[in-house]
Amino acid sequence: MSPPHVAVANHKGGVGKTGLAQGLVTAAAEAGQRVLVVDMDSQGNLTRRLRARVPQAPEERAHASLASVLQRPAVGEVERILVPCGYDDPVYSERITIAPGHLELELLALTAGTAASEKRLLRALHGVSDAFDLVVIDCPPQLLSHQIDIAFSAADVLLLPCEPEYDAVESARRIYERIDRDRHTLNPDLAVAGVVPNRVRSNLVVHQKRLGQMSDMWGLAVCPVHVTELVAIKNQSENAQPLRSDGTDGRKAADTFRDVYDWARPRIDAVMGRA
Ligand SMILES: Nc1ncnc2c1ncn2[C@@H]1O[C@H](COP(=O)(O)OP(=O)(O)O)[C@@H](O)[C@H]1O
Ligand SMILES: [Mg+2]
Repeated sequence: MSPPHVAVANHKGGVGKTGLAQGLVTAAAEAGQRVLVVDMDSQGNLTRRLRARVPQAPEERAHASLASVLQRPAVGEVERILVPCGYDDPVYSERITIAPGHLELELLALTAGTAASEKRLLRALHGVSDAFDLVVIDCPPQLLSHQIDIAFSAADVLLLPCEPEYDAVESARRIYERIDRDRHTLNPDLAVAGVVPNRVRSNLVVHQKRLGQMSDMWGLAVCPVHVTELVAIKNQSENAQPLRSDGTDGRKAADTFRDVYDWARPRIDAVMGRA
């Protein structure tokens, strides 16, 4: 059976998509899962934060990335560019495999009009993703772009990290609206499995208010585990090391993502009708 393909998305940038993706894939690896990471963001932040072993020379790097695979992918072509996570601990390096992002992912928009071009990732992953227990796709902060169409066409479910603040909630709501509106043309089976509150500061009245609004709108899809503002998460985006290596705060962050993963995994299966 094909593993769940989970896209991490939100129209807004800086809400913690890449942080959630990093936290979830490392939690899944700690739980013994083999994880395939697909970096669909041209910034390549997740590729760097997982220390994917990509070539150093710029011209080689483009060819060894998802940007080159997705130009005109053969079935299963993603295999050609897969690299391991570069963390020292084999728990991560042996279980996390990455399809690296690259800035030329943005050029895919130039060929958006060609037949079935939004199915390119689906085609490139075909057969290859079956060797994994989980596929996580990190998305760019976009809504109607060709890159999002490509990511959403290959996904079974979405996870939406969301700060409990007006702009982020609205941006998540627009993702819900879009998958609903474009259901028949884009991906008939795509559903939101969960919304993960991030950077929560429970002492803020505005956060309490927005968390209430999120529950009213999305009910059980809102993850009861809240990711708080943690220095270790900020550090991870700088030092590109496993959260667990960053002292007490790092272990707290990693334990939080483990709890998010433990909540999300059965929910993903349930939303996919596999429970
Ligand atoms: N819970 C958190 N605590 C501390 N810093 C965070 C948290 N979530 C995100 N950040 C920081 O905010 C910035 C944006 O997060 P990132 O995951 O890159 O967002 P996105 O992928 O949505 O653009 C990064 O510097 C990241 O370290
Ligand atoms: Mg990101």
